[in-house]
Amino acid sequence: MKPQMLGPRLRRLRSNAGMRRLFQECSLESRHLVQPYFVVEGQGIRREVREGYGLWQLSADMLPEEIRLLEDKGAGGLMLFAVPSFKCEDGAALQKQMAPTQRAIALCKKQAPHLPVFVDTCLCSFLSHGHCGLVKDGKIDNDSSVACLAEMAVGWGKAGADFVSPSDMMDGRVLALREALDAADLDAVAILSYAVKMQSVFYSPFRDAANSAPEFGDRSSYQEPVANRREALREIELDVLEGADALLIKPALSNLDLIRDAREACELPLVAYQVSGELAMLRAAADAGMLDFEAACKEALLSMRRAGADFIVSYVARSFK
Ligand code: PBG
Repeated sequence: MKPQMLGPRLRRLRSNAGMRRLFQECSLESRHLVQPYFVVEGQGIRREVREGYGLWQLSADMLPEEIRLLEDKGAGGLMLFAVPSFKCEDGAALQKQMAPTQRAIALCKKQAPHLPVFVDTCLCSFLSHGHCGLVKDGKIDNDSSVACLAEMAVGWGKAGADFVSPSDMMDGRVLALREALDAADLDAVAILSYAVKMQSVFYSPFRDAANSAPEFGDRSSYQEPVANRREALREIELDVLEGADALLIKPALSNLDLIRDAREACELPLVAYQVSGELAMLRAAADAGMLDFEAACKEALLSMRRAGADFIVSYVARSFK
Protein backbone atom coordinates (compact mmCIF):
# COMPACT_ATOMS: atom_id res chain seq x y z
CA MET A 1 0.00 0.00 0.00
CA LYS A 2 1.27 3.44 -0.89
CA PRO A 3 1.48 5.88 2.08
CA GLN A 4 -0.70 8.94 1.62
CA MET A 5 1.97 11.33 2.66
CA LEU A 6 5.69 11.13 3.12
CA GLY A 7 5.49 11.82 6.85
CA PRO A 8 6.95 14.63 8.94
CA ARG A 9 9.28 16.88 7.00
CA LEU A 10 12.03 17.75 9.48
CA ARG A 11 13.88 19.70 6.85
CA ARG A 12 11.33 22.53 7.12
CA LEU A 13 12.95 23.73 10.34
CA ARG A 14 16.41 23.57 8.77
CA SER A 15 15.54 25.45 5.62
CA ASN A 16 17.57 28.60 6.25
CA ALA A 17 20.07 30.06 8.66
CA GLY A 18 17.44 31.95 10.66
CA MET A 19 15.36 28.82 11.14
CA ARG A 20 18.39 26.80 12.18
CA ARG A 21 19.40 29.49 14.63
CA LEU A 22 15.95 29.71 16.15
CA PHE A 23 15.59 25.97 16.59
CA GLN A 24 19.10 25.26 17.88
CA GLU A 25 18.64 23.29 21.09
CA CYS A 26 21.92 23.85 22.86
CA SER A 27 24.88 26.11 22.39
CA LEU A 28 28.58 26.36 22.92
CA GLU A 29 30.02 29.64 24.10
CA SER A 30 33.31 30.75 25.61
CA ARG A 31 31.79 30.78 29.07
CA HIS A 32 31.27 27.02 28.77
CA LEU A 33 35.01 26.38 28.57
CA VAL A 34 37.62 26.13 31.33
CA GLN A 35 41.31 26.24 30.40
CA PRO A 36 43.86 23.99 32.13
CA TYR A 37 47.43 25.17 32.89
CA PHE A 38 50.41 23.31 34.29
CA VAL A 39 52.12 25.40 36.94
CA VAL A 40 55.89 24.99 37.14
CA GLU A 41 58.40 26.57 39.46
CA GLY A 42 60.66 29.35 38.21
CA GLN A 43 60.30 32.55 36.27
CA GLY A 44 59.54 33.53 32.73
CA ILE A 45 58.49 30.01 31.76
CA ARG A 46 55.75 29.74 29.19
CA ARG A 47 55.95 26.73 26.91
CA GLU A 48 53.49 24.60 25.04
CA VAL A 49 54.64 21.03 25.64
CA ARG A 50 53.98 20.23 22.01
CA GLU A 51 52.96 22.94 19.62
CA GLY A 52 49.27 23.02 18.82
CA TYR A 53 48.21 20.56 21.53
CA GLY A 54 47.17 23.17 24.11
CA LEU A 55 49.16 21.81 27.06
CA TRP A 56 50.72 24.96 28.52
CA GLN A 57 53.34 24.94 31.25
CA LEU A 58 53.65 28.29 32.97
CA SER A 59 55.49 29.78 35.89
CA ALA A 60 53.22 31.86 38.12
CA ASP A 61 54.60 35.16 36.82
CA MET A 62 53.37 34.32 33.31
CA LEU A 63 49.78 33.85 34.37
CA PRO A 64 48.61 37.50 34.27
CA GLU A 65 48.83 37.60 30.48
CA GLU A 66 46.82 34.37 30.21
CA ILE A 67 44.22 35.65 32.64
CA ARG A 68 43.77 38.77 30.53
CA LEU A 69 43.31 36.57 27.48
CA LEU A 70 40.72 34.38 29.22
CA GLU A 71 38.86 37.42 30.52
CA ASP A 72 38.83 39.06 27.10
CA LYS A 73 37.39 35.87 25.64
CA GLY A 74 34.84 35.49 28.40
CA ALA A 75 36.14 32.00 29.22
CA GLY A 76 34.46 30.15 32.08
CA GLY A 77 37.55 29.84 34.25
CA LEU A 78 40.87 28.08 34.57
CA MET A 79 42.11 24.86 36.10
CA LEU A 80 45.58 24.64 37.59
CA PHE A 81 47.73 21.52 37.79
CA ALA A 82 50.79 21.63 40.01
CA VAL A 83 53.99 20.24 38.50
CA PRO A 84 56.39 20.29 41.47
CA SER A 85 60.09 20.69 40.69
CA PHE A 86 60.95 17.69 42.86
CA LYS A 87 59.20 14.45 43.77
CA CYS A 88 58.76 12.82 47.12
CA GLU A 89 58.25 9.18 48.21
CA ASP A 90 55.34 10.05 50.49
CA GLY A 91 53.40 13.16 51.49
CA ALA A 92 56.14 14.58 53.72
CA ALA A 93 57.16 17.43 51.39
CA LEU A 94 53.63 18.31 50.34
CA GLN A 95 53.61 21.85 51.72
CA LYS A 96 56.86 22.75 50.02
CA GLN A 97 55.79 21.17 46.74
CA MET A 98 52.52 23.09 46.78
CA ALA A 99 54.03 26.55 47.29
CA PRO A 100 54.50 27.66 43.64
CA THR A 101 50.93 26.69 42.73
CA GLN A 102 49.60 28.41 45.85
CA ARG A 103 51.33 31.57 44.66
CA ALA A 104 49.75 31.10 41.25
CA ILE A 105 46.29 30.71 42.78
CA ALA A 106 46.67 33.83 44.89
CA LEU A 107 47.85 35.76 41.87
CA CYS A 108 44.85 34.66 39.78
CA LYS A 109 42.40 35.66 42.46
CA LYS A 110 44.08 39.02 42.96
CA GLN A 111 44.03 39.90 39.29
CA ALA A 112 40.62 38.47 38.42
CA PRO A 113 38.58 37.88 41.57
CA HIS A 114 35.55 36.72 39.60
CA LEU A 115 37.28 34.27 37.28
CA PRO A 116 36.70 30.82 38.82
CA VAL A 117 39.89 28.92 39.68
CA PHE A 118 39.78 25.13 39.89
CA VAL A 119 42.79 23.32 41.32
CA ASP A 120 43.46 19.68 40.58
CA THR A 121 43.86 17.69 43.77
CA CYS A 122 45.86 14.54 43.18
CA LEU A 123 49.18 13.07 44.20
CA CYS A 124 50.52 11.69 40.91
CA SER A 125 52.72 14.65 39.98
CA PHE A 126 54.00 14.95 43.58
CA LEU A 127 55.12 11.37 44.21
CA SER A 128 58.22 9.70 42.81
CA HIS A 129 56.30 6.62 41.62
CA GLY A 130 53.67 8.67 39.77
CA HIS A 131 50.62 6.98 41.29
CA CYS A 132 47.60 9.01 42.40
CA GLY A 133 47.84 7.66 45.95
CA LEU A 134 50.48 6.71 48.52
CA VAL A 135 52.05 3.30 48.06
CA LYS A 136 52.32 0.87 51.00
CA ASP A 137 53.74 -2.62 50.52
CA GLY A 138 53.49 -2.24 46.77
CA LYS A 139 49.81 -1.28 46.90
CA ILE A 140 47.96 2.01 46.65
CA ASP A 141 46.78 2.70 50.18
CA ASN A 142 43.36 4.32 50.14
CA ASP A 143 42.95 5.94 53.53
CA SER A 144 46.40 7.46 54.03
CA SER A 145 46.10 8.84 50.48
CA VAL A 146 42.77 10.42 51.33
CA ALA A 147 44.30 12.11 54.40
CA CYS A 148 47.08 13.49 52.23
CA LEU A 149 44.61 14.73 49.61
CA ALA A 150 42.59 16.47 52.32
CA GLU A 151 45.72 18.29 53.46
CA MET A 152 46.34 19.32 49.85
CA ALA A 153 42.78 20.57 49.40
CA VAL A 154 43.09 22.74 52.49
CA GLY A 155 46.33 24.19 51.08
CA TRP A 156 44.64 25.09 47.80
CA GLY A 157 41.66 26.49 49.66
CA LYS A 158 43.83 28.68 51.86
CA ALA A 159 45.55 30.07 48.78
CA GLY A 160 42.17 31.14 47.40
CA ALA A 161 40.99 28.34 45.10
CA ASP A 162 37.28 28.52 44.33
CA PHE A 163 37.18 24.80 43.62
CA VAL A 164 39.32 21.84 44.53
CA SER A 165 39.06 19.04 42.00
CA PRO A 166 40.00 15.60 43.33
CA SER A 167 41.07 13.46 40.35
CA ASP A 168 42.66 10.59 42.27
CA MET A 169 39.69 8.16 42.39
CA MET A 170 40.32 7.03 45.99
CA ASP A 171 37.21 5.97 47.90
CA GLY A 172 35.69 8.43 50.33
CA ARG A 173 37.80 11.39 49.35
CA VAL A 174 34.97 13.81 48.65
CA LEU A 175 33.63 13.50 52.20
CA ALA A 176 37.14 13.73 53.66
CA LEU A 177 37.88 16.86 51.63
CA ARG A 178 34.59 18.45 52.65
CA GLU A 179 35.24 17.78 56.32
CA ALA A 180 38.82 19.03 56.17
CA LEU A 181 37.83 22.21 54.32
CA ASP A 182 35.02 22.94 56.75
CA ALA A 183 37.26 22.31 59.76
CA ALA A 184 39.74 24.83 58.32
CA ASP A 185 37.01 27.45 57.94
CA LEU A 186 37.05 26.98 54.21
CA ASP A 187 33.39 26.17 53.81
CA ALA A 188 33.18 28.52 50.81
CA VAL A 189 35.56 26.32 48.81
CA ALA A 190 33.59 24.05 46.46
CA ILE A 191 34.40 20.52 45.36
CA LEU A 192 34.32 19.50 41.72
CA SER A 193 34.82 15.79 41.98
CA TYR A 194 36.07 13.63 39.15
CA ALA A 195 33.21 11.24 39.75
CA VAL A 196 33.90 9.05 36.77
CA LYS A 197 37.48 8.96 35.64
CA MET A 198 37.99 6.06 33.31
CA GLN A 199 41.17 4.08 33.24
CA SER A 200 42.05 5.50 29.89
CA VAL A 201 44.95 5.70 27.47
CA PHE A 202 43.75 9.13 26.42
CA TYR A 203 45.64 10.78 29.30
CA SER A 204 49.10 10.08 27.84
CA PRO A 205 49.89 13.57 26.50
CA PHE A 206 48.83 15.06 29.85
CA ARG A 207 51.28 12.86 31.71
CA ASP A 208 54.13 14.35 29.69
CA ALA A 209 53.00 17.85 30.64
CA ALA A 210 52.42 16.99 34.32
CA ASN A 211 55.40 14.63 34.56
CA SER A 212 53.08 12.14 36.23
CA ALA A 213 53.28 8.80 34.42
CA PRO A 214 53.24 5.85 36.85
CA GLU A 215 56.64 4.24 37.26
CA PHE A 216 55.22 0.74 37.74
CA GLY A 217 51.89 -0.86 36.95
CA ASP A 218 48.94 1.23 35.85
CA ARG A 219 45.98 2.99 37.42
CA SER A 220 43.50 0.13 37.10
CA SER A 221 43.17 -0.47 40.86
CA TYR A 222 41.63 2.97 41.32
CA GLN A 223 40.32 4.37 38.05
CA GLU A 224 37.00 3.23 36.61
CA PRO A 225 37.04 0.24 34.23
CA VAL A 226 35.89 1.37 30.78
CA ALA A 227 33.46 -1.55 30.53
CA ASN A 228 31.44 -0.63 33.64
CA ARG A 229 28.36 1.55 33.44
CA ARG A 230 26.55 0.53 36.62
CA GLU A 231 29.67 0.96 38.69
CA ALA A 232 30.21 4.39 37.15
CA LEU A 233 26.71 5.30 38.30
CA ARG A 234 27.60 4.20 41.83
CA GLU A 235 30.63 6.49 41.73
CA ILE A 236 28.31 9.34 40.80
CA GLU A 237 25.80 8.46 43.51
CA LEU A 238 28.48 8.29 46.20
CA ASP A 239 30.05 11.61 45.27
CA VAL A 240 26.64 13.25 45.45
CA LEU A 241 26.06 11.75 48.92
CA GLU A 242 29.53 12.75 50.09
CA GLY A 243 28.81 16.39 49.30
CA ALA A 244 30.34 17.17 45.90
CA ASP A 245 29.19 20.51 44.47
CA ALA A 246 29.67 19.45 40.86
CA LEU A 247 30.69 16.26 39.06
CA LEU A 248 33.18 15.67 36.30
CA ILE A 249 33.31 12.86 33.77
CA LYS A 250 36.27 12.01 31.57
CA PRO A 251 37.35 11.31 28.92
CA ALA A 252 34.37 13.13 27.48
CA LEU A 253 33.89 11.99 23.90
CA SER A 254 34.13 8.28 24.67
CA ASN A 255 31.75 8.61 27.63
CA LEU A 256 28.91 10.72 26.31
CA ASP A 257 26.51 7.97 27.42
CA LEU A 258 27.66 8.39 31.03
CA ILE A 259 27.35 12.16 30.84
CA ARG A 260 23.74 11.61 29.79
CA ASP A 261 23.23 8.98 32.51
CA ALA A 262 24.62 11.36 35.13
CA ARG A 263 22.44 14.16 33.81
CA GLU A 264 19.41 11.97 34.39
CA ALA A 265 20.59 10.47 37.70
CA CYS A 266 21.15 13.70 39.62
CA GLU A 267 20.64 17.44 39.56
CA LEU A 268 24.24 18.46 40.23
CA PRO A 269 26.11 20.57 37.69
CA LEU A 270 28.01 18.33 35.30
CA VAL A 271 31.39 18.94 33.79
CA ALA A 272 32.96 17.11 30.87
CA TYR A 273 36.73 17.00 30.44
CA GLN A 274 37.96 16.88 26.88
CA VAL A 275 41.23 15.22 27.83
CA SER A 276 44.63 15.61 26.25
CA GLY A 277 44.39 12.48 24.09
CA GLU A 278 41.00 13.43 22.68
CA LEU A 279 42.39 16.71 21.49
CA ALA A 280 45.58 15.04 20.28
CA MET A 281 43.54 12.81 17.95
CA LEU A 282 41.90 15.84 16.38
CA ARG A 283 45.18 17.74 16.16
CA ALA A 284 47.02 14.84 14.55
CA ALA A 285 44.22 14.25 12.07
CA ALA A 286 44.17 17.96 11.21
CA ASP A 287 47.95 18.04 10.84
CA ALA A 288 47.65 15.11 8.44
CA GLY A 289 45.25 17.22 6.38
CA MET A 290 42.27 15.04 7.16
CA LEU A 291 39.98 17.47 8.94
CA ASP A 292 39.56 21.04 10.10
CA PHE A 293 40.80 21.28 13.68
CA GLU A 294 38.58 24.12 14.89
CA ALA A 295 35.43 22.71 13.33
CA ALA A 296 36.17 19.25 14.72
CA CYS A 297 36.71 20.69 18.20
CA LYS A 298 33.46 22.61 18.04
CA GLU A 299 31.56 19.53 16.97
CA ALA A 300 33.05 17.42 19.77
CA LEU A 301 32.43 20.12 22.40
CA LEU A 302 28.87 20.74 21.27
CA SER A 303 28.15 16.99 21.52
CA MET A 304 29.30 17.13 25.14
CA ARG A 305 26.93 20.01 25.83
CA ARG A 306 24.11 18.10 24.15
CA ALA A 307 24.89 15.02 26.25
CA GLY A 308 24.27 17.14 29.34
CA ALA A 309 27.52 18.86 30.34
CA ASP A 310 27.05 22.33 31.82
CA PHE A 311 30.60 23.21 30.91
CA ILE A 312 33.77 21.61 29.63
CA VAL A 313 37.40 21.61 30.68
CA SER A 314 39.27 21.90 27.40
CA TYR A 315 42.74 22.83 26.19
CA VAL A 316 41.16 24.94 23.45
CA ALA A 317 39.35 27.34 25.83
CA ARG A 318 42.03 29.99 25.36
CA SER A 319 41.92 29.79 21.55
CA PHE A 320 38.16 29.28 21.16
CA LYS A 321 36.51 31.56 18.60
C1 PBG B 1 45.73 13.40 37.52
C2 PBG B 1 45.02 13.71 36.27
C3 PBG B 1 45.12 13.14 34.99
C4 PBG B 1 44.34 13.90 34.14
C5 PBG B 1 43.75 14.90 34.91
N1 PBG B 1 44.16 14.75 36.22
C6 PBG B 1 45.95 12.04 34.45
C7 PBG B 1 46.04 10.69 34.96
O1 PBG B 1 45.13 10.14 35.58
O2 PBG B 1 47.11 10.13 34.72
C8 PBG B 1 44.22 13.70 32.67
C9 PBG B 1 43.79 14.89 31.88
C10 PBG B 1 44.15 14.87 30.44
O3 PBG B 1 44.57 13.84 29.87
O4 PBG B 1 44.00 15.92 29.80
N2 PBG B 1 45.36 12.28 38.18
